[in-house]
Amino acid sequence: MADSALLRIGKKEYTLPTLVGTEGEQALDIRALRKESSHITYDEGYGNTGSCESKVTFIDGEKGILRYRGYPIEQLAEHSSFVETAYLVIYGELPTKEQRARFSQLLRDNANIHERMLHLFEGYPRDAHPMAILSAMINSLGCYYPQMSTNDHRSDLEHFDEAAAITISKVRTIAACSYRMSQGLPMMYPKHDLGYCENFLHMMFSEPYHEYQASPEVSRALNLILLLHADHEQNCSTSTVRMVASSGANLFASTAAGICALWGPLHGGANVAVIRMLEEIHAAGDDGSRFIRDAKEGVAGKRLMGFGHRVYKNYDPRAKIIGKACEDMLKSLGREDPCLDIARHLEEAALNDEYFIERKLYPNVDFYSGIMMRAIGIPLTMFTVMFSIGRMPGWIANWKEVASNPKGRIYRPRQIYQGPAKRDYVPVDQRG
Ligand code: CMC
Repeated sequence: MADSALLRIGKKEYTLPTLVGTEGEQALDIRALRKESSHITYDEGYGNTGSCESKVTFIDGEKGILRYRGYPIEQLAEHSSFVETAYLVIYGELPTKEQRARFSQLLRDNANIHERMLHLFEGYPRDAHPMAILSAMINSLGCYYPQMSTNDHRSDLEHFDEAAAITISKVRTIAACSYRMSQGLPMMYPKHDLGYCENFLHMMFSEPYHEYQASPEVSRALNLILLLHADHEQNCSTSTVRMVASSGANLFASTAAGICALWGPLHGGANVAVIRMLEEIHAAGDDGSRFIRDAKEGVAGKRLMGFGHRVYKNYDPRAKIIGKACEDMLKSLGREDPCLDIARHLEEAALNDEYFIERKLYPNVDFYSGIMMRAIGIPLTMFTVMFSIGRMPGWIANWKEVASNPKGRIYRPRQIYQGPAKRDYVPVDQRG
């Protein structure tokens, strides 16, 4: 039985119930406070606010623990694949053989995009950013599947399995297509006999007369990158998906909003910023100390990209896995990337620096993922798109939680108004 908390404001006392999660996390339940008091709680950036109950992902940021549906990320990274993990994240259980085969088939059946949709790509300029195209296209899917995007959750949920498979499968086709178009290359249609990752690589890199063959190392690396990004509880993009979903919006619209939220450099866009930073250090022949110094001094808002996390105050377990996999992969492909050495050096320097130690700033998933994507051949402009493909199962699972909650309310935070007090309108000719 959870304890309750006592809140005293002036002479009045309020009893607040508490909530306890599966792993013992505790929360004050302030939902009823508004009925008895005019106070709201203030927490800019939601640093200490639980916006929902969820059964998808557990993170213990102090200990560096990440679990999808109870399974440690290390075990999934070692034994599972992206498609199997996507099923786990969305449906809550690891699939049986039959369920996995059915899910894979559904993904294969939905790999193509509507031919009319291909014309949409032609309207974009050659240098359009693939993230802008991706979000627009995912939202546009609703136009092609109106029965799944009625914005009535009960009816949209009747088509959930298909809508989820459409989104997961087509996001990869759309992503590859936007890259091909930006290069002035013809689109490569998906092939039915290829696995999820191999098919993506085929659509990215095959030529009309030259079929791209993904090596086992490369397809394993891509599987790992996507799997490690599959969900991460209430981050900026997932909360955005839930926020949009809470208004009753359909899966395509909600996940398209998630893509937009992911784009920024403090979130998914950090993987691009990290590579730019490492390349800049390489080009300058620097050892990275200038970046560390600028980040510490907050020069022009500079930060050490790929470092720090709102929740992890310990090593991000995904960064640990990906850093090691990155090294192994480069070794087995017989390649070298000076950025990896710079990253290792930067990490060591930062982890021994008082500023970073004091603030518990460790490498996050984006610190090494870009180096690994580069080794696969993914161009820089596609890095955040890869994050979107990986995060799709998490967004879908969170959309489903919101859509299936019969007691769910629209997400609608409060604010403290700090603008001008009431004043009277002055006609333009009297405004001085
Ligand atoms: N470099 C230098 N200082 C930093 C960094 C950094 N990367 N991150 C945080 N700090 C400092 C910050 O200036 C603040 O210092 P002070 O207390 O003196 O004002 C302190 O650490 C706490 O930072 P915060 O801004 O309160 O942290 P936050 O929880 O609001 O931000 C973050 C989290 C991830 C946005 C931030 O750490 C950051 O900007 N990191 C770089 C961008 C990045 O790598 N983002 C990817 C996140 S992981 C993938 C994902 O989920 O998207």
